[in-house]
Amino acid sequence: MKVKKAVIPAAGLGTRVLPATKALPKEMLPIVDKPAIQYIVEEAVASGISDILIITNRGKGIIEDHFDKCPELEQKLLSSGKKDMYNEISKITELANIYFLRQKETKGLGHAVNCARSFVGNEPFAVLYGDDVIIGEDPACAQLIRAYEEYGHAVLGINKVPEKDISKYSSLKVENIKDNIFKCTDMIEKPTPDKVMSLYSILGRCILTPDIFDILERTAPGAGGEIQLTDAMKTLAVTTGMTAVDFTGTRYDMGNKLGIMKACVEVALTHREIGNDFREYLKSVLNNM
Ligand code: UTP
Repeated sequence: MKVKKAVIPAAGLGTRVLPATKALPKEMLPIVDKPAIQYIVEEAVASGISDILIITNRGKGIIEDHFDKCPELEQKLLSSGKKDMYNEISKITELANIYFLRQKETKGLGHAVNCARSFVGNEPFAVLYGDDVIIGEDPACAQLIRAYEEYGHAVLGINKVPEKDISKYSSLKVENIKDNIFKCTDMIEKPTPDKVMSLYSILGRCILTPDIFDILERTAPGAGGEIQLTDAMKTLAVTTGMTAVDFTGTRYDMGNKLGIMKACVEVALTHREIGNDFREYLKSVLNNM
């Protein structure tokens, strides 16, 4: 079955980026001139996804506004001859069928994904974490969908992370199948040093089968007292098998300050409008250091 649906969990509290995220969802933090979540929706669409459910919560209404039409603004852009910007703005509302659902309590990523059960039905679906922006020629989600089509199991998007950081992520037990494709047989969220299985970690993307929902129902709170998607995926790996793809592209973690700055600087350097000026500015800053 083709993967046509995606879930974007975007209901986290974003405590690592306070106070910016007190009133502004971290998923709406701009990378130059586009909010993070728009990059993620565009990646899903470029990967062949047609229906997207964004999981939000109280105070995240501006995510809905961003993907909605804004007739006054569109009219103003048209009447003042700003056709290019009009096209760019109106295109946002036509990217995909976008649905919203509120996670009523912030009980963790696993709980957020479980809220998508009736939207997903009996189909495989992609999960794109709302604070992980991945930029690359070949959309990361598309790389995972191809592996799903080839191997028929759930698929994890993985990359190696520095050893000093692994305890902040998950750690996977993997065996190489070919090239950048692995079989995954075990995983742990936020491992202590003695529990690290490899430096491969799940970074922001996966393709899941609907079996995950029954598993999530039974998953008790794990690391941090939250219902961890990793704990449920571990059960899925053991019962149905799981593939992992060491995806290409650069991942920016919009959930932490350094990640936000890296995303802004790197995207600004290649931006068609400000790229050259920003490069000159950055050089002058470096020269003065
Ligand atoms: P994170 O753990 O990175 O998000 O979750 P957080 O809870 O906002 O992080 P802190 O507070 O800075 O530590 C990864 C993704 O899962 C979503 C987040 O919005 C993020 O996109 N999430 C997390 C939910 O949708 N619901 C939750 O209960 C937790």
